[in-house]
Amino acid sequence: MPALHRITGGGVALLVDTTGDDPVVVHWGADPGAGEVDPALLTPAVAHSMFDEPIRPSLLPQLARGWRGRPALRGSRSGRDFSPRLVLTGSDGDGATMTLRLADPEAGLEAHLTLALAPSGLLLVDSTVRNTGDSPYSLQQADVVLPVPAQASESLDTTGRWIREKHPQRRPIQQGTWVRSGRHGRTGHDAPVVIAAGTAGFGWRHGEVWALHLGWSGDHESYVERTAGGDTVLGAGELLKPGEVLLAPGEEYRAPTVYAAYSAAGLDGVSARFHDWMRARPSHPSTPRPVVLNTWEAVYFAHDLDTLKELADTAAAVGVERFVLDDGWFKGRRHDRAGLGDWLVDETVWPGGLTPLIDHVKGLGMQFGLWVEPEMINEDSDLAREHPDWISKPGRRMPVEWRHQQVVDLANPEAWQHILDALDAILTENAIDYLKWDENRDQLELGHDGAASTHAQTLAVYRLLDELRRRHPQVEIESCSSGGARVDLGILARTDRLWASDTNDALERQTIQRWTELLVPPELVGAHVGPTESHSTGRVHDLGFRAITAMFGHFGIEWDIRQASDDDRDRLAAAIVVYKAQRDLIASGRMVRSDSPDPAVQVTGVVAQDGSRALFSIAALATSANEVPLPVRFDGLDPERAYRVVLALPPGPHAFNQRAGVAWTGASPVVPGGVLTELGLPLPVLNPEQALLVTLTAV
Ligand code: GLA
Repeated sequence: MPALHRITGGGVALLVDTTGDDPVVVHWGADPGAGEVDPALLTPAVAHSMFDEPIRPSLLPQLARGWRGRPALRGSRSGRDFSPRLVLTGSDGDGATMTLRLADPEAGLEAHLTLALAPSGLLLVDSTVRNTGDSPYSLQQADVVLPVPAQASESLDTTGRWIREKHPQRRPIQQGTWVRSGRHGRTGHDAPVVIAAGTAGFGWRHGEVWALHLGWSGDHESYVERTAGGDTVLGAGELLKPGEVLLAPGEEYRAPTVYAAYSAAGLDGVSARFHDWMRARPSHPSTPRPVVLNTWEAVYFAHDLDTLKELADTAAAVGVERFVLDDGWFKGRRHDRAGLGDWLVDETVWPGGLTPLIDHVKGLGMQFGLWVEPEMINEDSDLAREHPDWISKPGRRMPVEWRHQQVVDLANPEAWQHILDALDAILTENAIDYLKWDENRDQLELGHDGAASTHAQTLAVYRLLDELRRRHPQVEIESCSSGGARVDLGILARTDRLWASDTNDALERQTIQRWTELLVPPELVGAHVGPTESHSTGRVHDLGFRAITAMFGHFGIEWDIRQASDDDRDRLAAAIVVYKAQRDLIASGRMVRSDSPDPAVQVTGVVAQDGSRALFSIAALATSANEVPLPVRFDGLDPERAYRVVLALPPGPHAFNQRAGVAWTGASPVVPGGVLTELGLPLPVLNPEQALLVTLTAV
């Protein structure tokens, strides 16, 4: 084992100095090459009035090493063993992975870290903490910490709320700690998709960026910290409540995986690391993503067989391939105040069960999907009346209701088994291809037997999904959580699609999808054409803007298209034809989000990995400060090739406000790639909330 353990992948390197008894991270970033370097050369100076040993960023920063930032590991044995000194007892690995073993026999603790650099350049860090003492150890925090160089001067993360998820926030990195804590009992609408640090002014296409993502759907913390010593670190870990993880002698805590992406080419480079890694997973959906119609904003709770059959007929006629029956089908569920927990078809509404609708949908050549919310329970339900003790609560007192619902205590094995059996029965008795798995409330006070149980509940949800998938491997599952409140790689390890937000307002979606897709590849991000007048904001948008916005995701419809005009239905069908022609590219290409010089214009693209084709949307989000729109550059194309530029949507002939450039009036010119990336093309004058969809094909 060389003194400097070096792992590489995708042009990224992680160098760890294992010569001492503390694993010091010497470098995480661009691969500096294989030349040997004496770690002593890289050891910092010791200042006056300071610890007499150099302070270096460890993979496991500890008080015992003089680290004055957040220690990675916190906990105690009723107050004792509060400051372990874990020393390296062994390490091994190869050119892509590294395992480190640390122990403090006196404090009775062991820690294992496994670091793996995937070919995509994504670094995966897994860690465990074991209690080797002879009394229980109460674990408070076990973070993964990685240093970033001092030239990272700005941080970025995302925040949000219901119907406004994933809005970026940036700040200068200064001494101190910027912590994003999530106590929602789920990932949360405001959860950062990543916590990132980058060089001054880094953007989508430029700057060095280091970013962490925690693959966990429970409480969490991520942070960027700069110490007075001058070190800057990124950290992430599960946020534990008091007493929540009490390790018995010999017991082990496994921390959620932390994903770390370095990019020398801005946020698009970060995305590429995540997207490539996700797409390489054996479980990643590989079939063309079917066009969805979801019934929620079409009929809400007003379930009626004839209406839904008519909706299915209309859906099939415009090209829909998967029909998803949303909330409202099960016992007592006539509104959102009752029924959750009673996973039996409501016979008053569905006297013949779901089969007549399923048969009709399948007869039209579509898949059938069904909405469930397995973790939840209404107090007004048979389940709550029969098993009031199955409701998760902090003690004897009930938590505050949210959307009139409580949470099933899935840490209770009987309750867990009951929910599994109910879901299994639904899938066994009905020809269901797809489940929309919802989770519609914050869970601040999850408790089992009087102790905090967010950790146990999160693992129980994972087990439920894993077991259901094992029994029904052909069923795809969507993860929804009041829209986008559960977007993380923990839930995505066991689901096939995300619902990014409950808003179908295309203007809101332009931001929400852009930042969700920083992490998640577009083919997993549900994106629906909603009604003309948005139900969540009241904004009215033309079909073109709505369809083009839904194109950069897993395309669907959530609208009573029986009521749409013939013209709108024709235009929707035309957009679906475009989506079907482009979905293989959307599901495999490299995402491009240009740093537009005009904040009113948002450019989003997908470029084939081999540069042979691309799809771009140019969306006006607001009125521009410029009389004449600035040219748009088509980043990411191959400068050595020439491309035919075709306006795919709106279909021509199209009347723009004013005289448009020749590219937009049906000419479909062939333009050198270098011209498209360096000079760009002049745009027509767009109204705010109007978009163009352009295909570029190498000739
Ligand atoms: C949540 C989901 C919606 C819809 C409703 C049904 O809000 O995010 O898409 O399924 O629940 O109650």
